[in-house]
Amino acid sequence: MLSHVIGRFRRELHAAGDAEDRSRQVRHLQALELRAHAQLPKLSAHLEALYGGRRDLPAQLGTLLELAITKGLERPDELRQLDAAREHDPSWFSSHKRIGAALYVDRHCGTLGKLEQEISYLKLLNVSMLHLMPTVYKTPEKNNDGGYAISDFRSVNPAIGTMEELRDLFATFRKNGISPVMDVTVNHVADEHAWARAAQAGDTEKRGYFFALDAAGRDAYEPHLGRVFPDIRRSNFTWNDDTGRYMWTSFMSSQWDLNYANPATLAAMAGEQLFLLNQGAEVLRMDAVPWLWKELGTDCKYRPQVQAILGTFNALCRIAAPGTVLLAEAIHEPERIKRNLGTDRCPMAYNTITLAHLWDALAHADASFMAEVLKRHGNTAPGTSFLNMVRTHDEMGFYFDKESAAALGIDLDTRRRGLGEFYGGGGTHAKAQAFLANNNSTHMLLTGTTGSLAGLEKAIEAGDPQQMDAAVRRIRLLNSVLLGLPGVPMLNLMGGDDRGQVNDYSYQADETLRTDSRWVNRVQRDVDFKAKSPLEIEAMDRVFSDTVDLNRVRARDMPAFDAGPMQVIDTGKAPVLAFARQNGQQEVVVLANFSPSPQKVDPQHLRAHGLTEAAIDKIGANEGQVQSVVAGVELAPYQCMWLVPADRELDRSRILQTDPA
Ligand code: GLC
Repeated sequence: MLSHVIGRFRRELHAAGDAEDRSRQVRHLQALELRAHAQLPKLSAHLEALYGGRRDLPAQLGTLLELAITKGLERPDELRQLDAAREHDPSWFSSHKRIGAALYVDRHCGTLGKLEQEISYLKLLNVSMLHLMPTVYKTPEKNNDGGYAISDFRSVNPAIGTMEELRDLFATFRKNGISPVMDVTVNHVADEHAWARAAQAGDTEKRGYFFALDAAGRDAYEPHLGRVFPDIRRSNFTWNDDTGRYMWTSFMSSQWDLNYANPATLAAMAGEQLFLLNQGAEVLRMDAVPWLWKELGTDCKYRPQVQAILGTFNALCRIAAPGTVLLAEAIHEPERIKRNLGTDRCPMAYNTITLAHLWDALAHADASFMAEVLKRHGNTAPGTSFLNMVRTHDEMGFYFDKESAAALGIDLDTRRRGLGEFYGGGGTHAKAQAFLANNNSTHMLLTGTTGSLAGLEKAIEAGDPQQMDAAVRRIRLLNSVLLGLPGVPMLNLMGGDDRGQVNDYSYQADETLRTDSRWVNRVQRDVDFKAKSPLEIEAMDRVFSDTVDLNRVRARDMPAFDAGPMQVIDTGKAPVLAFARQNGQQEVVVLANFSPSPQKVDPQHLRAHGLTEAAIDKIGANEGQVQSVVAGVELAPYQCMWLVPADRELDRSRILQTDPA
């Protein structure tokens, strides 16, 4: 099969182009053949899992191979070089130097042109991976689910720029060591997407990309399905006059779910992904992956076929664009999100442990639940990496690991209710909003920026410097832990996390956004300090300089935070999260005090990790200052330390200074 496909490409190449271009392409075809050969067993197995029993299976395999080879041959030289370099460095996306950030171009600076001017700012923050939220694409003007209803993966939102500008911007990012991340809503497209429009115009082939059901079909599936937005959406289906059918719409009514039981849909979606990778995107954020496969009588989430779909996309990327990586997005329990994560699926996945437990530990001044979950799920398999965030642009997802809860005797419903009251109920430092207040799920859904959740909004309202100081310390603590955990940390610029921005309530005045409180944490970039009180300016300054410092230390000086496991340390102190990381060059112990009172960690918990006599806290007030750990370590309220043994660290920096390499 493969040799047949390659033979056809070879014949075509021999018949076209000038001699120089021909030999360049023929050489590249050889490389593509080798990669395709390596992926073939996996690709065949995935297709078998999805479409086993179909007589046209070999033809489907041929179509996908042709697609990957075509896109591989179209891949620009500069990107081929990137691929070649990264084939020898498979952990390129997970070194300690890799720090991510996410933003909406429109809400951050307005246009792609202006974003280019932000590069020096991004470099100041040591950002080397940038997620452009999906408002960068052409979407329906209204009701586009914050850009997640995409009308065309190949067109840029005209209000912010053009595809040519995006390509150029990606090239500039590349020169500056910044890897662009783009969304691919693999589960759905906007009802304005060309596929959906064709289906509405009566194109039966395109209608087969979707689920177009009659009332009986809808009623057969619906009773088994959950609801993503229960307040806003009463059903998972939306009537469409043109198709004369109920279209499957798991999310908003303008987002039509794709039907992967049809192999043509799989190939079409893979084509969009490879197109984006050839424009220079280096990471594709695969949105809402649990929903990709529907099966009657089930809740249509996390079906085993999802892994085969992701595996197919991954195999095609490995062939056509191996210097890129797929990132799975799902906010669920760690055990479930890990099903999407793998070198043969998505090598990166969102880490819901950080999203849920950092806030849980702060609210309870107790990190033992987080420690238990990290022991079970904090490490990922070699070659894979978590994407760690404090907050996303969505609601807070309190998805906890049931086994860890059971081991500690924690009742999860009570825990979630308590968190709902703590963050949304008033009477504490935090200010969250309810998301889908009437939903009857057991999950307490809340929204808010890191700044507001950590106490800045209330402190500023009260004009209270002490409260402000505590809030800034909490934010520093959250970020310090995030940067130390295995995985790639991602800074939420769309929530203004670099400056501790507080909730933005302006969405409430917009008819089309009013019912979706997630907009409270999708802030307009605030560069106008004029309207702010001195206290707020001071808070923003402190959060900003903390962010710059912490990122700088991690990127410059913490090889122990490269991809690799962590070991949770039991200190016997519930408020303190402690874990060790190491690589060949460095060993570090992270100590994080989630409580408002000082805590002491006894020396016997540190010795096994090389901390016997003197240590340096890499993020201490006096960087590089040596402190004794013989009698243990005192942590101030909300303090986090990255402790390295002083002697080894001093040796290491001496070697770094004298070694010209
Ligand atoms: C993801 C996005 C969310 C969106 C949904 C549907 O969960 O993060 O914002 O509503 O997918 O695309």
